[in-house]
Amino acid sequence: MTSIANLIDTMDYGPAPESADIVEDWLAVHEAGFGHFIDGRFTRPGDTFEVSNPATGETIAQITQGTAADVDAAVKAARGAQGKWAGLSGHERARWLYALARRIQQHARFLAVLETIDNGKPIREARDIDVPLVARHFYHHAGWAEIAETEFSDAKPVGVCGQIIPWNFPLLMLAWKIAPALAAGNTVVLKPAEYTPLTALAFAKICDEVGLPRGVVNIVTGDGATGAAIVAHEGIDKLAFTGSTDVGRLIRRETAGSGKKLTLELGGKSPFIVFADADLDAAVEGVVDAIWFNQGQVCCAGARILVAESVAERFGALLRQRMAALRVGDPLDKSTDVGAIVHPVQLARIEELMAKGVAEGADLYQGEAPDGCFYPPTLATGVEPASTLATEEIFGPVATLTTFRTPADAIALANNTRYGLAASIWSENVNLCLGIAADLKAGVVWINCTNVFDAGAGFGGYRESGFGREGGREGMMEYLSFPAPKPPKADDAPAAIPPAPGLGGVVVGIDRTAKLYVGGKQKRPDGGYSYPVTNAKGEAIGLAGHGNRKDIRDAVEAAHKAVGWGAATGHNRAQVLYYLAENLAARADEFTDRLKSFGQSPAKAKTEVETAIQRCFWYAAQADKFDGAVHQTKSAHVTLAMHEPLGVMGIACPTPFPLLGFVSLVLPAVAMGNRVVAIPSQTHPLAATDLYQVLETSDVPGGVINIVTGERDELAKTLGDHDGVDGLWYFGSRDGIAMVEQRSAGNLKQTWTEPGMARDWTKPEGHGRAFLHRATQVKNVWVPYGE
Ligand code: NAI
Repeated sequence: MTSIANLIDTMDYGPAPESADIVEDWLAVHEAGFGHFIDGRFTRPGDTFEVSNPATGETIAQITQGTAADVDAAVKAARGAQGKWAGLSGHERARWLYALARRIQQHARFLAVLETIDNGKPIREARDIDVPLVARHFYHHAGWAEIAETEFSDAKPVGVCGQIIPWNFPLLMLAWKIAPALAAGNTVVLKPAEYTPLTALAFAKICDEVGLPRGVVNIVTGDGATGAAIVAHEGIDKLAFTGSTDVGRLIRRETAGSGKKLTLELGGKSPFIVFADADLDAAVEGVVDAIWFNQGQVCCAGARILVAESVAERFGALLRQRMAALRVGDPLDKSTDVGAIVHPVQLARIEELMAKGVAEGADLYQGEAPDGCFYPPTLATGVEPASTLATEEIFGPVATLTTFRTPADAIALANNTRYGLAASIWSENVNLCLGIAADLKAGVVWINCTNVFDAGAGFGGYRESGFGREGGREGMMEYLSFPAPKPPKADDAPAAIPPAPGLGGVVVGIDRTAKLYVGGKQKRPDGGYSYPVTNAKGEAIGLAGHGNRKDIRDAVEAAHKAVGWGAATGHNRAQVLYYLAENLAARADEFTDRLKSFGQSPAKAKTEVETAIQRCFWYAAQADKFDGAVHQTKSAHVTLAMHEPLGVMGIACPTPFPLLGFVSLVLPAVAMGNRVVAIPSQTHPLAATDLYQVLETSDVPGGVINIVTGERDELAKTLGDHDGVDGLWYFGSRDGIAMVEQRSAGNLKQTWTEPGMARDWTKPEGHGRAFLHRATQVKNVWVPYGE
């Protein structure tokens, strides 16, 4: 007789297929093709393209390719519905979101099977991860709708949102986009990815079933061209995009100067760091969740395993053993671990990258995979840090394995990427984990866990992984507009600085030339030129350095060297800012005279100086009070939402309010731990250059505040192009705004742009938490607790 032990040893899994009948019936009803969902109605199918089940290659639906006219109709419907939707009480909107959540749960099995057939992901994941998270997202945001009026009392909805999503989590990405948008009172036009549009259409049906007001949700299907039509449409107030970094960059360029609010959630190449004292068995399971979840088609996949040298051999052996047990195959089979790659085009892309990696010397260890659109779980070793496999987002079930010796090596390797989406750290030493988490350039850090998501926590990246957050309070902020001053009629476009050779005659009698301020020292401009500063009557009152590209680059370098400022405590930064206030107050008369010399009335000059001093106090006070949060995530984690500085920031100041405009922008940035390269008012830079001595006597460390005077837009252009600049604030001309946004696309630095004439900096609109919010990014650190 076969013993039980024997049975367990020999027994293979039998197939456990999930029935697809209900989905097949639904697809059969739509055999003639699917149209869009616009203004509460399904349109007739137009020109269609085929969508297939990647696991079988069978065509499963005909989908309409959205035209510019379709997009226009959808935007009009969204616009038409927006006022009424926003006019509902939060409670009323909450009830709609709650109804959507309920209906999603009722259709959970249908949605999971449809997702699996359309995308190729294992049914186990669609059923246990994607769909429950979708429902959770709508429930959570029903709550935000309910309380938004009081929680964000000074905010309004943004308006009509264009949302473009990828194919890796089709319904979940839809939920991440639509739930917060609706909760905040916006209406949406969403385009699902061309490979996986079906669950979005099923969701449209759910909107119809629950009777959601017409036009609140519009779904337009199609490929990148349809996406581009959404991006270009003038009726869109905000764009939210998730997808490749290349398309994200394109969208940043396309929308430059348009005034559209933008959030980008892009690619990643996330590190998975295993320290010698980690629970290695748990870490191996972690790798399974990190890179073999969803076939590795996950933007935050732990694609780069970094393991301590002393345990690397054992860890590698355990990992290979585990890989042998992974079941790759029919996604509808409930015991499948790894399903199909979304599309043959994606498979070809993976294969091409892998061939490159092998040609560059990588060794591959691979599991099994059936024929067809499948790729085996793969571990690549012998991978150089600069090689294709270590740097490119493969978006397939492929992890690289590299060893490290010290924690410092691990951090250096982990941060050696242009991305910064997520990271995972494995060690039994919580001090070490939290220390490493602080040093990683990533928007999400998972400690002894990986790929954990929840509607209650923000998700989003640093660096070229994009900007903006989805989920939780952070995510809600992206769908709200906080009252900004009305765009003024006058454009802040100062007259060009006259060319240097003509200067001689204008400046007779002026003996002092203000230099630049770089790395804590006064410095002559690289070109050796100065430009005249004149008063309201056109009389020369001084000379300022005419900085150039080289000066900006030197200033950025100096700012980079001042790393200690970001690591200083809020208390220490506050002390420096209080000291600054004190020294500024001691010289208040001098600054008032300087402002008067530009032609300002004595009263106005006095107010400007006094407000500047007050602002030093306000930001000193905030330096240790702009707290993060502990999110109430659904799983057993303490999820720390920490405010971190952006890093090195460029700040181009407005022409008016030469002292206060400068102080009001530079202070919040440095209070939060950023280092700054500031371009003062082009026409009146001397109020800022007078600050050099104040900075020197106030213990502001060299390199924390660097000042380069000259042609604002010329200098801002260099800041925009510079990959060492992490954030750029520009307060100036309309052309300058477009230029800065355009230029920022290179490394996808965050920008904040505004017409230079918009604010009265002496008023409350000249300061506030919004400035601190702009000067920081949130890192969500997930720390497990309990057993
Ligand atoms: P993609 O970025 O082209 O597609 C994402 C979405 O953007 C789709 O809905 C697509 O129709 C739309 N789109 C494409 N071009 C557009 C344009 N010019 N304007 C507006 N919308 C546009 O990604 P794709 O080609 O499907 O995948 C290529 C690579 O991108 C993958 O191999 C992967 O490395 C990366 N990727 C990253 C994702 C992430 O979540 N970070 C998701 C999908 C892909």
